[in-house]
Amino acid sequence: EPSTEIPYGDSDFVVVANRLPVDRDPDDENRGWRTSPGGLVTAVAPVMKAQEGAWIGWTGVADEDFEPFTIDGMHLSPVTLTSEDVLRYYEGFSNATLWPLYHDVIVPPEYHRTWWDAYVRVNERFAAKVAEVAAQSATVWVHDYQLQLVPQMVRRLRPDLAIGFFNHIPFPPYELFAQLPWRDEILRGLLGADLIGFQRPADAANFRRAVRGRLGYATKGSTVSVPPGDFLPAHLVRAEPFPISIDTPYLEELARDPKILERAKQIREEVGNPRVVMLGVDRMDYTKGIRHRLKAFGELLAEGRLDVEDVVLIQIATPSRERLEQYKIIRHDVELAVGRINGEQVDVGSIPVRYLHHSYPRDEMTAFFLAADVMLVTALRDGMNLVAKEYVACRRRDDGALVLSEFTGAAEQLKGAVMVNPHDIADLKAGILEAVQMDERTRTRRMKQMRKRVATDTVSRWSKNFLAELEHIKDNPESIVPE
Ligand code: ADP
Ligand code: F6P
Repeated sequence: EPSTEIPYGDSDFVVVANRLPVDRDPDDENRGWRTSPGGLVTAVAPVMKAQEGAWIGWTGVADEDFEPFTIDGMHLSPVTLTSEDVLRYYEGFSNATLWPLYHDVIVPPEYHRTWWDAYVRVNERFAAKVAEVAAQSATVWVHDYQLQLVPQMVRRLRPDLAIGFFNHIPFPPYELFAQLPWRDEILRGLLGADLIGFQRPADAANFRRAVRGRLGYATKGSTVSVPPGDFLPAHLVRAEPFPISIDTPYLEELARDPKILERAKQIREEVGNPRVVMLGVDRMDYTKGIRHRLKAFGELLAEGRLDVEDVVLIQIATPSRERLEQYKIIRHDVELAVGRINGEQVDVGSIPVRYLHHSYPRDEMTAFFLAADVMLVTALRDGMNLVAKEYVACRRRDDGALVLSEFTGAAEQLKGAVMVNPHDIADLKAGILEAVQMDERTRTRRMKQMRKRVATDTVSRWSKNFLAELEHIKDNPESIVPE
């Protein structure tokens, strides 16, 4: 239960993200808190639990003011959004303009000036909250595409602070980014930071190219020189890759828990104990390639290359951004595809796709990962994809196979996966079959290799690396001067 005594107003470490790590559960009559959706919260919450500091963000409900509170050892400082902010800043500019633009325009981004105005207004509100909460010379870590103007706004309000920014999603190629009517404002907003982190080297390079192309600033290696007298005092900014990861020790611990292992067995029984259990776990989002995955699976069954007696696909999809048109469309398409595949079966007992449109507690998710022989991650574009890493971390017996889209950040680290191009249904089908038919020795070798990687690249190491570099830059600004 939350307590209301919180030691802040003088925080030395401040995390700023659109969402707090918890949101209000709409189905709970007691108006309780539950874990917020998405990879950002999965990754940053353990960092925050291990460190004193304040987390500034939104509660997920509109038009309601909340006092600061503490939960699970995390001090939370809520920012209020009105219904109009939710419509224009969150659903509009963040998720119908930036999200599709930054994910390769899989669906067309919409550009509306009223949405932009709301984005500026809400970013100002977050920046003002930072200025209020942060102690003298504190470290501020701003997260993700919803808050790209906050670094510049904070630097203006509080030049004493060390400002880091991490982009959890891709940063698009210049030719796409250049569509954005407010491209220069976004670049200037980000350049208020001392250090800007991206998932992949290519994202950092796309950003630096946009800075050179649009603002004409010099870059050398990963350093950008912001010249004097423009929109901020002259300073140097580092833009570099810091691939995010997961809380591996915690997941390994869950994967050893006898209750969770038992539950995994039970899940296999509940789906009829087939030879092969395949699993997909995603937010219900058009970037995740769920339709492509279902198409490939359905064709393999129809062609008899997979046998309905042998295999079951469990597809878990967390409800996400449900009022947006494109999210209604993807849900409709996915449900149609599931219905079609299951409807094609002759035998009343055959249900090849088990579809669950819910979110589950961490223990239950771990049981699903343990129950699955083959994990399908087929995103059309994804900044990282933590699900792929979570599956690997749970496979303590070095068994199981991962089918992984080459368009995820995770593909750069999980080289033991069966790599696929999800746009190419033939390739996707071949990848799924390869994973199903892979001999045990090959599976073990490849999983071992991937497990080693997630054992060393943990989220705690990620945050330590990022924060150490930020501190270094702040303490030794001369050290990043390009010669
Ligand atoms: P994104 O940030 O785009 O949602 P990621 O794969 O990086 O994608 O992170 C998703 C996170 O949400 C993972 O930690 C995953 O385990 C979790 N998750 C996904 N679906 C569910 C669900 N149905 N119930 C609970 N957690 C989920
Ligand atoms: O980067 C992952 C992310 O996009 C977060 O920024 C976001 O909070 C999360 O996924 C879930 O989306 P939403 O907050 O819109 O529910």
